[in-house]
Amino acid sequence: MSDAAKFSLSGKDVEFPVMSGSVGPDVVDIRKLYAQTDAFTYDPGFTSTASCQSKLTYIDGDEGVLLHRGYPIGELAEQSSFMEVAYLLLNGELPGSAELGTFSRTITRHTMVHEQLATFFRGFRRDAHPMAIMCGVVGALSAFYHDSTDIRDPEQRIIASHRLIAKMPTLAAMAYKYSVGQPFLYPDNSLSYTGNFLRMTFGVPAEPYEVNPAVEKAMDRIFILHADHEQNASTSTVRLAGSSGANPFACIAAGIACLWGPAHGGANEAALNMLREIGTPERIPEFIARAKDKNDPFRLMGFGHRVYKNYDPRATVMQKTVREVFDALKVNDPLFETALRLEELALNDDYFVEKKLFPNVDFYSGVILSAIGFPTSMFTVLFAIARTVGWVAQWNEMITDPDQKIGRPRQLYTGPTQRTYLPVEQR
Ligand code: SDX
Repeated sequence: MSDAAKFSLSGKDVEFPVMSGSVGPDVVDIRKLYAQTDAFTYDPGFTSTASCQSKLTYIDGDEGVLLHRGYPIGELAEQSSFMEVAYLLLNGELPGSAELGTFSRTITRHTMVHEQLATFFRGFRRDAHPMAIMCGVVGALSAFYHDSTDIRDPEQRIIASHRLIAKMPTLAAMAYKYSVGQPFLYPDNSLSYTGNFLRMTFGVPAEPYEVNPAVEKAMDRIFILHADHEQNASTSTVRLAGSSGANPFACIAAGIACLWGPAHGGANEAALNMLREIGTPERIPEFIARAKDKNDPFRLMGFGHRVYKNYDPRATVMQKTVREVFDALKVNDPLFETALRLEELALNDDYFVEKKLFPNVDFYSGVILSAIGFPTSMFTVLFAIARTVGWVAQWNEMITDPDQKIGRPRQLYTGPTQRTYLPVEQR
């Protein structure tokens, strides 16, 4: 592509540099557009806007490619571990065994939370949505860890990063325990990151808890699949919050709030609820018709993506993992057959083919999480545990990017022009 973008506006010819990345679309650097033309660009939803430069994750939506620091998600999901992917995203290279050991031990030794945080849960109703609890308690971490909130200090940034990655599973397990009226379990540092989370969630003080290796492996793979995903809505929220200098705990709480939406991370909960509403394959045509009906707000949850116009590579791994978990737990869930049939019918329907709507990461995850024993309301919390690695890595990259400044978009104003105030007796 050329090294400059030229166009004229109101009779004035302007030219902007074109920048190329290591792979993927070039960008037109329009930072001087307003100064040179007195006009803004208009891009609600940022469908054609690059907000930053990043080395973390590359997505080719047309080819269904997802790379973390250059490594394909399929290879990481099959061969790596969530702790290793966390190290890779944070540091840029896969760790040697000694580096991985040190990193895992560091994370493990941050898994406990301040004892007073337990009282925060008591303020919530038992039936509070766990994501509401997570928004609250993660934001509250900044009240307990003042020694890692100075974002200008690289050491404090790393400690805050480790604390967030380590404490999310503990807080998530506490949110679940609180909802079912069971006592909190402290972390057991002899377990893996994911094994520790499973024990804190499903273990009880009355008896030992045996981590099922197949479930541990499947859960760890699900965490890998959700770790990072370029400049998605919640990651952009974390970056925007961080651009004001807000502390990392507040930024991650903002990301959790954004992820909760059903169009984003909340889709895994919505997708399983949709499959339950559909029930049997016989009712699928009724729901496909509703999804195609312009007058019906219903959408097939777990389908479609802003970037993927091909199969989401994470959904491929997720579908394979369903069978592994079913075999390991000797369970079956007829909803999986319904999901497979729904995918088959949708991918043979012109509407979905023309609009390039494929299953995304959220379509099959709920079937697995439900089989493992998580209630639907915990699904997005699990997404948040994994995505905290990506949020923290993206936040660190943003803080150290010399191009970054406070994010402050402009607008196309369509409201009333200036007018004179009239006292109420004259109106
Ligand atoms: C995640 O960004 C990320 O990377 C997110 C994520 C990550 O890892 O961070 O990948 C995680 O959020 C995955 C997406 C989960 N959300 C869902 O599954 C909810 C259902 N899907 C959608 O609502 C939708 O597909 C989005 C929000 C995911 C993408 O929306 P876009 O890119 O803004 O596309 P759009 O809403 O403009 O839809 C384009 C067309 C529209 O039809 P027209 O108005 O052009 O006629 O496709 C239709 C939409 O009506 N459409 C759907 C549909 N998704 C889009 N129609 C039926 N069912 C759907 N699921």
